[in-house]
Order: sequence, then structure tokens, then C-alpha cells
Amino acid sequence: MEKGAQLYEGKAKKVFATEDPDLLIVSYKDDATAFNGQKRGTIIGKGVINNKMSNALMSMLQKHGIPTHFVEQLSDRDTLVKRVEIVPLEVIVRNISAGSFAKNYGVQEGIVFSEPTVEFTYKNDALGDPLLNDSHALALGLTTREELEQIRNYALQIDKLLQSFWLSCGVTLVDFKLEFGRLSDGTVILADEISPDTCRLWDSKTGEKLDKDRFRRDLGGVEDAYHEIMSRLEKQMETKE
Ligand code: TMP
Repeated sequence: MEKGAQLYEGKAKKVFATEDPDLLIVSYKDDATAFNGQKRGTIIGKGVINNKMSNALMSMLQKHGIPTHFVEQLSDRDTLVKRVEIVPLEVIVRNISAGSFAKNYGVQEGIVFSEPTVEFTYKNDALGDPLLNDSHALALGLTTREELEQIRNYALQIDKLLQSFWLSCGVTLVDFKLEFGRLSDGTVILADEISPDTCRLWDSKTGEKLDKDRFRRDLGGVEDAYHEIMSRLEKQMETKE
């Protein structure tokens, strides 16, 4: 499948049309941003890692009954996906306190929750992705009640599957962000990416951060962390084959 016209360029990916109106090609870049684009940089090799990792994780989720946009990896950076209309919500699941949760509620990082939290933000860069609850999402007409229920159920199922996968790699899944989309018939499926850009992943023994927080917080060793987490995933996938 060949790349057609570029439809969109986001902070970390470009999206291209294909000859099939139901399929798109996403192309992962090495560009990194944080704090709603205020901090910018490059993480060399990130695009290749995020592409391969997201595809591997979505394939795993698909095998366990979660519908996703993943169709086929075309190259190191390019993947064929189903065309969806993105539901303008960032769906965040947390197992352990960190990041904006710790900041907003005045608690330390690292508190293990007895059950996961699910929260939504309104995907809107101009507004800085504000937090919102179910009734806000309905009032704004972003989703239907049924879609919201389904998205929450998928998010919790995905959390269980990802937690257990990462645990087998010696990695603790702290939190992550998902995006969902609608196919032309209205079916809701998982879209966007699952990668160290969109998850907090801590080494289970040492607590070392193996994700984009190294870039956000200027911790150094950013590329090494992306390579380390990818090599753990690849080793685990090989032993499962
Ligand atoms: P937060 O603690 O900053 O709200 O982030 C929660 C999770 O969501 C974390 O794993 C990083 C991810 N995330 C994104 O993927 N994109 C974003 O724009 C933000 C703010 C967070």
C-alpha cells in the first residue's frame, strides 16, 4: 500500500491517505514534545520504537478481544491502520500515583491504588486538554453514554492485559493514555498508539523510569530507556512465540 496525500501532521506522527478510503498510513517521527508542546526535542530512534511497540501491543490486545485500528506494519516507521473518527477524549488509566495525579491531589508518586482509576480529558490543545467527567463529555456532545461505558470497559480490560504483559518483562505499568475512534459504522475501536510516550513504565525492581518522563523531567538517558524497554518487550514476545 502506497502513501497518498498527507492528511495531518501531529506532534509525534504524520497521517497519510491510501488508495483505500477505509485505510490510512501513520508514520512515526522522532519529535518529542511535552507540556502541550512548550518543550520540544528529538529522541533519536523513538519513531521506530514507538511504531513497533504499539503494533506489538495492539496485536496482543486484539488477540484478547480488544478491537484496534492496527492492520499491518509496512516499515520501521510506517503502519497501515483503519480510518477512524477520533473520539476527542484522552482516556487515562492509573494504577499508581504519578504525574498530574500526584500534583493535582497533593500526594507523592508511587502510591499503589487498590483499584485502577479511569479519567478523561478533553482532547483540545487550545484549552490544554482539561479534565472532564462523564456528564461534561455528554454535555459537550463528545460521545454517547453507551460509547463512554464501552470506552471505560475497554480501558479497564486493556489495563489488566497490559499490566500482566509488562509484569512478565519486569516492568510495572504505572499509568497510560488511550485514544479511541469510530469506524464509519459507528463501532468504537482502540486507535492512536501505546508506547513509552503514552505510558509510565517503571523497572519493577529498581523503580527506574523507562518512559518519556526521562525527557519531560530532563533525567537524561532518554534514548537508552527507550531501547531498554523495547528490548524487554522483544525478548518477551520471542519467548511467547
Ligand atoms: P499525567 O500524569 O501527566 O496526566 O499523564 C498520565 C499518562 O498519560 C502518562 O502515562 C503520560 C500520558 N500522557 C500522554 O500520553 N499524553 C499527554 O498529553 C499527557 C499529558 C499524558
